[in-house]
Amino acid sequence: MAGRVAGKVALITGAAEGIGAESARALGREGAQLVLTDINDNGVKSLVAELERNGHAAIGVHHDVSDERDWEAVMAAALSRFGRLDVLVNNAAIAFVGPTAETTLADWRRMLAVNLDSVFLGTKHAIRAMTGKEGAGKGGSIINISSILGIDGAATAAAYCASKGGVRLFTKSVALECGEAGNGIRVNSLHPGYIHTSMFETDIAAYGSFDAKMKKVSALHPIGRVGQPEEIAAGVVFLASDESSFMTGSELVIDGGYTAR
Ligand SMILES: NC(=O)c1ccc[n+]([C@@H]2O[C@H](COP(=O)([O-])OP(=O)(O)OC[C@H]3O[C@@H](n4cnc5c(N)ncnc54)[C@H](O)[C@@H]3O)[C@@H](O)[C@H]2O)c1
Repeated sequence: MAGRVAGKVALITGAAEGIGAESARALGREGAQLVLTDINDNGVKSLVAELERNGHAAIGVHHDVSDERDWEAVMAAALSRFGRLDVLVNNAAIAFVGPTAETTLADWRRMLAVNLDSVFLGTKHAIRAMTGKEGAGKGGSIINISSILGIDGAATAAAYCASKGGVRLFTKSVALECGEAGNGIRVNSLHPGYIHTSMFETDIAAYGSFDAKMKKVSALHPIGRVGQPEEIAAGVVFLASDESSFMTGSELVIDGGYTAR
């Protein structure tokens, strides 16, 4: 199949909905073969069926991104089905807000486990797959979904910001390491502004209503609105493709101008 990522095998975490699902659709349209993972098995199953109906090759695998044994099983499934790995999109994450003084250590650890341990584990096992006998010499692209809140702080979002800031500098460090190793693996972070997904809808209570939140959050973006998952998926395709071949250790910010202030 022709396309901007034709022949590449891409693994996307948190693919059942939101930015992960739209990234899967966009990469599929551009010719990638897909390994889609999530804790939401039904969501992944129906997305795989949709992609197959549209003529794309895809498998779904159950995966808790904070569990290293799950990562080992996912990589084994990817290599067994497609024989190689070219792209990893570390997308799965959780978000919650609340005053730091009232955040429990268990909540803090859960945030760091799902949002940051996951990126470490995925990167570790992707480098192994991309440099192992199946992938040797071909390089690859690791795309770590951070956030505008990995660049700017936000009141009552300290744990989330810590996790996303960690993703940002982890990404740069591994990019330097891969550069020194000469293994052809590029590692970049992607920083969305507020995007209309389930995650966006999680803390409506703090705003009173969905409309009130949409109005207030839209105003934070000079472009005058929040983003759509497709607008982030476009960045994922760019970073996955060879069009970004001179890009590593960078931050791709797609935020309607949020961080321009
Ligand atoms: N939506 C936004 O406003 C926004 C802004 C900036 C960054 N982001 C980032 O974009 C990425 C995608 O966010 P989204 O808005 O699509 O979120 P979402 O909540 O719509 O989807 C997240 C997916 O991750 C899965 N998931 C959650 N915990 C998991 C785990 N332990 N293991 C595997 N899968 C798990 C969920 O089941 C879900 O399918 C996240 O990294 C998020 O932090 C989102």
